[in-house]
Amino acid sequence: MESLDALVSLAKRRGFIYQGSEIYGGLAGTWDYGPLGVALKKNIENLWWKRFVSDREDMYGMDAAILMHPKVWESSGHVSGFSDPLVECEKCKRRFRADHIEDTEKCPECGGRLGEARQFNMMFKTSVGAMEDSASTVYLRPETAGGMFVNFKNVIDSFHPKLPFGLAQIGKAFRNEITPRDFIFRVRELEQMEIEYFVRPESWKEHFDFFLKEQHDFLADVGLSKEKLHIVDVPEADRAHYSKHSVDTEFDFPFGQKELLGLAYRTDFDLKSHSEGSGTELSYFDEETKERFVPHVIEPTFGLGRLMLAVLSDAYCEDELGGEKRVYLAFKPAVAPVKVAVFPLLKNKPELVAKAREVYGALKKEFGAVVFDDNGNIGKRYRRQDEIGTPWCVTIDFDTLGEGGDAVLNTVTVRDRDTGEQKRVAINELAAMFKVALSA
Ligand code: GAP
Repeated sequence: MESLDALVSLAKRRGFIYQGSEIYGGLAGTWDYGPLGVALKKNIENLWWKRFVSDREDMYGMDAAILMHPKVWESSGHVSGFSDPLVECEKCKRRFRADHIEDTEKCPECGGRLGEARQFNMMFKTSVGAMEDSASTVYLRPETAGGMFVNFKNVIDSFHPKLPFGLAQIGKAFRNEITPRDFIFRVRELEQMEIEYFVRPESWKEHFDFFLKEQHDFLADVGLSKEKLHIVDVPEADRAHYSKHSVDTEFDFPFGQKELLGLAYRTDFDLKSHSEGSGTELSYFDEETKERFVPHVIEPTFGLGRLMLAVLSDAYCEDELGGEKRVYLAFKPAVAPVKVAVFPLLKNKPELVAKAREVYGALKKEFGAVVFDDNGNIGKRYRRQDEIGTPWCVTIDFDTLGEGGDAVLNTVTVRDRDTGEQKRVAINELAAMFKVALSA
């Protein structure tokens, strides 16, 4: 797709994503997920959790608190180092990220003079309890990773895992971005899907390479086009302070090739820093070799909203079908928010409606994400489902009831979203057919 505008408009119109606090004029960098956005998000999360956690024997799920002890972020280096260069226009007072504008002396909005760049810490501060003094200051976590490092010892004590093993978490993180932009690409309240994978120091590269491949296999699970993905080695100057080696995967977004997700070799930086900061030893005792050491960490990290934007923009298609222009979202069936729509051909024929309700009920029981629609003519119903990316529409007509003879009794038409082609399928074969297509 060429520009974001059409996607932003479809996302709002069809209930995927709305501007945060819209009726009050919006709050920059915040977005609210509507019913279809939530469904899409959950499908992506579930595929991630399946591949990276439940299908494996060496992963432990976590859901840590967003508010953490302020010393966590001192030890992790975020209090001193999690900042971006900020410049402010002396005339209009607008603020910009110095590394995101071409001319760091002239305001891109009003042409006024820009002041000196200064480092701006991106963590949101708040205070716990009734007192608003520095002793009560806490930060909203800027990455989910922190919640996993501080629970390293807890999980070892509860489960006695053997190295290598990982902690995995899906959750919110908060960053006071200077210039949130590009729809849900750069936001202030984001969601991450992260793994901290603990390994013997000498084996880090083998695990790093493994997770890079896993990340790309997962991108295929959610249906992203391979040719829009680019693997980029992050140069030392651009790496996060905790990383000794980082590889980003970039994606061709409508506004250019940009970071989609990351993979970092965090060494023993975090466990050592939190050991020193907390006074609790965070090490691992290998029962077989009788050695005690601090494991090293490989971190595959995904921004969930950013991945949704990639999935949505990759799926967005415009074409002409039956002489009419249409927009459709060519989601992989596994991520589509609605899998099947069931229609009676006519809404004023009770026998068609009853049969359609019966088929709908059976499919809904099997797949959950199934809708019933009897509103408007069939063409309009198809367009509505195309726009939200429903892979299949099932229509119950008079042939289903036997008016066309025994050969078509108890069959329905199944229409394919991408091609518009229709075929007749026996009702008792529908579920098996959709199951096969959903697992592809
Ligand atoms: N724990 C490692 C970490 O947080 P990061 O590269 O800062 O690394 C990981 O963030 C991922 O989170 C990014 O690749 C991106 O997908 C997503 N992300 C980061 N900042 C974001 C923002 N402001 N808005 C949306 N997604 C963001």
